[in-house]
Amino acid sequence: MFPFSIIFMLVLFLTLKSHAQQMYSGNLVMDCNNTDETGPSPAFLYTCNSIKPSCSAFLMFRTQPLYNTVMTISKLMSVDHTGLARINNITDSNKILPLNKELIIPVTCSCLGEYYQANTSFVIPTIYDTYFTIANSTYEALTTCSSLMRNNIYNQYDLHPGQKLQVPLRCACPTVSQTAVGVKYLLTYLITWKDSIQKISKRFKISSQDLALANGFSHVNEDDIFPFTTLLVPLSNEPLSSMTRTLGQKQNMSRKYIIIGAIAGSVSSVLCSLFVGYLLLKRNRVNACKMTKWELPKDIQLGIASVDQDFKIYRFGELEEASDGFSLQNRLSDSVYKGCLKGKTVVIKQMGPNANKEVKILQKFNHFNVIGLYGVCEHDRSCFLVYEFMENGSLKEWLQDKTLTSQESQTWTNRIRIGLDVAKGLQYLHNFANPAYVHKDINSCNILLSKDLRAKISNFGLARSTEKGQIANSSIKCPLESKGYHAPEYIESGIVSTKTDVYAFGVVLLELITGKNAVYVNDDDGEEVMLCEMVISSIGDEKHAKDKVDYLIDPRLQAIHPLGFTIDHGELALRLVKLSVACLEPESSRRLSMNEIVSTLMMIQMDAQSSDTMSMV
Ligand SMILES: *[C@@H]1O[C@H](CO)[C@@H](O)[C@H](O)[C@H]1NC(C)=O
Ligand SMILES: *[C@@H]1O[C@H](CO)[C@@H](O)[C@H](O)[C@H]1NC(C)=O
Ligand SMILES: *[C@@H]1O[C@H](CO)[C@@H](O)[C@H](O)[C@H]1NC(C)=O
Ligand SMILES: *[C@@H]1O[C@H](CO)[C@@H](O)[C@H](O)[C@H]1NC(C)=O
Repeated sequence: MFPFSIIFMLVLFLTLKSHAQQMYSGNLVMDCNNTDETGPSPAFLYTCNSIKPSCSAFLMFRTQPLYNTVMTISKLMSVDHTGLARINNITDSNKILPLNKELIIPVTCSCLGEYYQANTSFVIPTIYDTYFTIANSTYEALTTCSSLMRNNIYNQYDLHPGQKLQVPLRCACPTVSQTAVGVKYLLTYLITWKDSIQKISKRFKISSQDLALANGFSHVNEDDIFPFTTLLVPLSNEPLSSMTRTLGQKQNMSRKYIIIGAIAGSVSSVLCSLFVGYLLLKRNRVNACKMTKWELPKDIQLGIASVDQDFKIYRFGELEEASDGFSLQNRLSDSVYKGCLKGKTVVIKQMGPNANKEVKILQKFNHFNVIGLYGVCEHDRSCFLVYEFMENGSLKEWLQDKTLTSQESQTWTNRIRIGLDVAKGLQYLHNFANPAYVHKDINSCNILLSKDLRAKISNFGLARSTEKGQIANSSIKCPLESKGYHAPEYIESGIVSTKTDVYAFGVVLLELITGKNAVYVNDDDGEEVMLCEMVISSIGDEKHAKDKVDYLIDPRLQAIHPLGFTIDHGELALRLVKLSVACLEPESSRRLSMNEIVSTLMMIQMDAQSSDTMSMV
């Protein structure tokens, strides 16, 4: 009798356990202080409730700026990229996918202790990461704050960039009762706004009752589910890429803040003619509350030096003295002079009387990648602006410089960093204010390089520095019309938006890769070629893109391995070329935003630095 009752209890217990479905976590996953002392909690991971110790399972992930290719996502999730590409019907693992595109991630799900999990690891990238943001934002709720804290030794207030975290991903295996009715896999679905049990079940071609039951609901109640939590979808076959979708682009910043440019008084004043760049743009109607609530993203704030650090109103006498009375010796170009103010080399630019607008705008810009305006002086109906001095002159000159000393600095590392600097400067301009500022005249002449080759956006062509006191009469002539950089919609109808800057940036990036001008003369037939057209037409065919890229790369970037062979940078160059091409989309709304470009370039830079070959370059 006694043994029988034990067996009976055991059988009952096992049946109960194997029949229990997973419980939905609700918003518990948003807390970082959950406990499971009284038994497994859905606020951590899904409970081991099946007889299977491990199984194949699927996760869903939506592309985000840093994780927008099969390659980067496969690394994030520690899964094989070929399998990931296949199940999502994507041929090119490096192709930049649209934002918010859903991907299916195949994983092996194993029971460890009380919980199912698929393991991955994650190296903390920025100082702003917390267990919560890693769980909620980076992994999109595929892991939870509480389980990250449990699986890692670091205190939540002691997370630093570079630390490697163990990340258990939320997955589960079908229970006995699910298996009995033909369920083979469980997919961890990410609930988003406007999702409902009805809609999700329809998409995965299952009944809403089954979906509700699999998540511990006794019946379908649409109010039960919340965004940024997960739901298990029971499937009898592998999920198909056709079941995924791309969420409607989030309110596109650049559209919201598009401004129609109005060219500041430039034509009227000859003196001002070189200073056309920063446009004061017509504001579209945005209510004032919104403007005050709008905050700069943290990474942008980081680039901003202390506001108004040294902005100064100079006396004319000071500038006269600084520039030796605006001597010929100190002249850099037409109305641009080099000067020395309190031991600091500066550039003094004489402008017409109506420089006020520009001063007002530039005075506000204070970012490492935007040329610094130190101060201003009004004298005799002229305005003098005082800027920081950039020793290496413009990017255009630097790329054309064939001298030996410059040869040494022609490396991929430098070129990628310059690209990223420009991208960050533009990201700042575009996001600094509402409405956004558009530079409108990005080209390699308006990008200046400091002594250590850091790039800053400016809007006038500066003469190359004459470091060792040579006479600076070799002033560069930047073409006033920046042919080769204009977006189609600008050429056709004069439309100016942040996306016209993105287009121009795409061309600058191509110049960095190829070492050629935006418009150059073909050696073979002596004809003028637009760089962007040349690259797009020669890259066209995806299959042979890599071979063609090799031939586009600036030969000066070739690096020889100590063992004598040429290091292959085709992969790196291809990623950069693809990024440029994504900036050069004829349809402006399809171009990337500066935020996406910065993220992508950062990834490329990180990969380039970590790859062995690059460390020798
Ligand atoms: C976690 O902490 C928050 C705020 O401190 C509190 O509101 C919440 O109830 C706590 N959750 C648990 C599960 O203790
Ligand atoms: C995969 O994508 C190609 C086009 O890129 C399409 O023709 C094909 O039908 C897709 N296959 C599946 C299974 O969705
Ligand atoms: C997952 O990671 C944990 C450590 O957090 C480790 O103990 C376990 O063996 C890993 N499981 C698999 C299947 O790799
Ligand atoms: C979680 O992440 C989503 C998407 O990234 C975000 O919209 C949401 O605000 C985050 N939740 C919290 C509480 O920060």
